[in-house]
Amino acid sequence: MTDTYTLFVNKGLGKTVAKKLGLPRPALLRRYKSGAPLTVGPVLLVADAASTPDARALGEVMRGWGLDVVERFVASSTDRAPEGTNGPRTPEPSAPAEQRWGAIVVVLTGLSRPADAAAAVLALPDALKRLAPGGRVVTVSTAPADGDAPALAAARHGVDGFLRSLAKELRFGATANGILLAGDAGAEHPSTLAALRFLLSAKSAFVDGQFLTVSPADAAFVDSPRTWEKPLDGRVAVVTGAARGIGAAIAKTLARDGATVVCVDVPAAGEGLARTANAVGGTALQLDVTAPDAGERILAHARERHGRLDVVVHNAGILRDKLLANMDATRWESVVAVNVEAQLRINEALLAAAERGELDGLRIVSLASTSGIAGNRGQTNYGFTKAGVIGHTTATAALLAAHGGAANAVAPGFIETDMTAHIPFVPRQVARRANSLQQGGQPVDVAEAVAFLASPLAAGITGQTLRVCGQNLVGR
Ligand code: NAI
Repeated sequence: MTDTYTLFVNKGLGKTVAKKLGLPRPALLRRYKSGAPLTVGPVLLVADAASTPDARALGEVMRGWGLDVVERFVASSTDRAPEGTNGPRTPEPSAPAEQRWGAIVVVLTGLSRPADAAAAVLALPDALKRLAPGGRVVTVSTAPADGDAPALAAARHGVDGFLRSLAKELRFGATANGILLAGDAGAEHPSTLAALRFLLSAKSAFVDGQFLTVSPADAAFVDSPRTWEKPLDGRVAVVTGAARGIGAAIAKTLARDGATVVCVDVPAAGEGLARTANAVGGTALQLDVTAPDAGERILAHARERHGRLDVVVHNAGILRDKLLANMDATRWESVVAVNVEAQLRINEALLAAAERGELDGLRIVSLASTSGIAGNRGQTNYGFTKAGVIGHTTATAALLAAHGGAANAVAPGFIETDMTAHIPFVPRQVARRANSLQQGGQPVDVAEAVAFLASPLAAGITGQTLRVCGQNLVGR
């Protein structure tokens, strides 16, 4: 549920008062609806000369998605604005004056030194003034690599600071995210296109100021989805901790995308578990993920009931917050057992099956947390486990690669669930507003990121942690 303050400042008197007093005015975020347009208006495609071939290719693809794409390819920065003005030398392309951009896609793959960025970047100020509420900025650039010359490294790293700063400037629910192309992965790689579509869409409502890196994946495992609406058609997915909260939202979203879902939770949560399993037309498996044979039981259930296993989402997690000065063994050990040791043990069973040739192309998505990135007072145990999830995800991705699989993590920030509803009022308000979108995310926002990473086209995205935090102001 959207919080009361956000609802209040978005209508009538509340809107006027908040405006007058200069109070934060979090926007009502656009969320995915089947059949709704991908973006809220036409797409402005901006590129410097060296990036134009990649931009043209992306433009073709986006037109194929039914988007109205307007190209603005700038030969050099001097082409764009007469000296001493912000105005363009050439008029703003096509779209009528009242038309707002649904998205601005900036292609920077051709940068070879920092000075090159000016051409495309200085084409943005006027366009940004016409970015629609809920609009998107997406950069597509080349990932820094070992051996880059200093000037090339400066340009490629520069995109990171540029994008994260721009994301903090956007308002009215607009977001900015980037795609980094690594190795031989190009603009037309299926995972680049899948990432672009995800970042343009309402599915990425609470993803802000983040990057997705696309690596060349074994072509054999980059399946085309049958449709963009049902990318998981014919797949079998397991979701742990599915009885409620984020886990239930993940189960529903994977089912919406076509997967048959096995819902796992402890016997004590049996009622909620049955409710989720029924809602998604899947099966329920009552299982404590800390059981030594949890991995084998998950595999056996998926195979016996559904004939295969394609996706495992490690969502089950617990909190036992205490300052370290007051920490006891039960609080520490239970959090470690559920949040990280269980994932590791289940993954060992899955990897053993992959090595026997029984599980090709497996996708694992694990729930981390921004507490595992920035730390959080009272959460040394939780932060330890969530940072551990980020660590084992990279290591597991390397092992799964040989079997066409991928492992990624999603790190939610403040999400409106039963867990966060129990935080006292004042710290809850502070935590909820401390991000660029000035609100908490919804369980479905996390679920959309998980579903994207689980989808066949995301094969080139592996070993990564995607934050779903509205660009939470905490960070390293
Ligand atoms: P929740 O407490 O509402 O749901 C967790 C589910 O996991 C429950 O259904 C519970 O029964 C199940 N579970 C717990 N221990 C289990 C075990 N040993 N075996 C099987 N199932 C078990 O939590 P919420 O908020 O939905 O969080 C889901 C995940 O997202 C967790 O990993 C959490 O750490 C993570 N997360 C949540 C954030 C938030 O703001 N809500 C922020 C960052 C991360």
